[in-house]
Amino acid sequence: MSGILYGLGLGPGDPELVTLKAARLLARVPVVAYPAPEEGDSLVRAIAAPHVPPGRIEVVLRTAMLPGEAPAHAAYDRHATALAAHLEAGRDVAVLCEGDPFFYGSFMYLFGRLAPRFPVEVVPGVSSLAAAAAVAGLPLVSRNEALAVVPAPLPEEELADRLADCDAAVVMKVGRHLTKVKRVLGRLGLLDGALYVERATMPDGRVLPLAQVEEAPYFSLVLARRKEP
Ligand SMILES: C[S@@+](CC[C@H](N)C(=O)[O-])C[C@H]1O[C@@H](n2cnc3c(N)ncnc32)[C@H](O)[C@@H]1O
Repeated sequence: MSGILYGLGLGPGDPELVTLKAARLLARVPVVAYPAPEEGDSLVRAIAAPHVPPGRIEVVLRTAMLPGEAPAHAAYDRHATALAAHLEAGRDVAVLCEGDPFFYGSFMYLFGRLAPRFPVEVVPGVSSLAAAAAVAGLPLVSRNEALAVVPAPLPEEELADRLADCDAAVVMKVGRHLTKVKRVLGRLGLLDGALYVERATMPDGRVLPLAQVEEAPYFSLVLARRKEP
């Protein structure tokens, strides 16, 4: 019998935001796989650290971070083949996912390749969207308000079009797109009161008025609202 592939949402950074279910599965799966940049450490492996017992088989899914929309297909083909070998041998595999696996998560590329062949269970996690609103003390949406969630790498005009009608917005993947994001929110009258949230729930996390921010790392997002909740 083949093993089960788990897509484990591990939350935005604080290990206490790992769900009971994810912690229980981490305590028993023999194989733990996690994404990492081409060089350097895996953020999600660090989030999972208190919950991974020693002696597990660890598979590092190193993938180049490429700008643009196309995922690194060749790398995900390779990763899927490596995980399939464990699943075929009957070993359960947990893929560690930062935040929630199906919210801009790279797990979906493995899911697409492996779900047709193996049993898969996706365990939802606390997303960065929920975590950022909580640490910023800014409610996301109420009553009949519409929330737009947009990735900052979109071209400027598309970003503006998608944000034009919303009551509140979350802009993901800010990083090197900070200046463009500020310009677009300014044009739409959303800059005043917009909050920049970096590494939410991590020990070095911070929240600032967006207008004051000059530089942003990848693990940052922006929350904006048209009016007070
Ligand atoms: C590839 S997406 C992954 C999102 C993740 N699956 C989730 O559920 O939040 C990465 C983007 O999520 C946002 N992000 C993830 N964790 C964050 C955190 N702790 N604080 C702020 N933004 C975060 C950033 O915008 C980052 O560029």
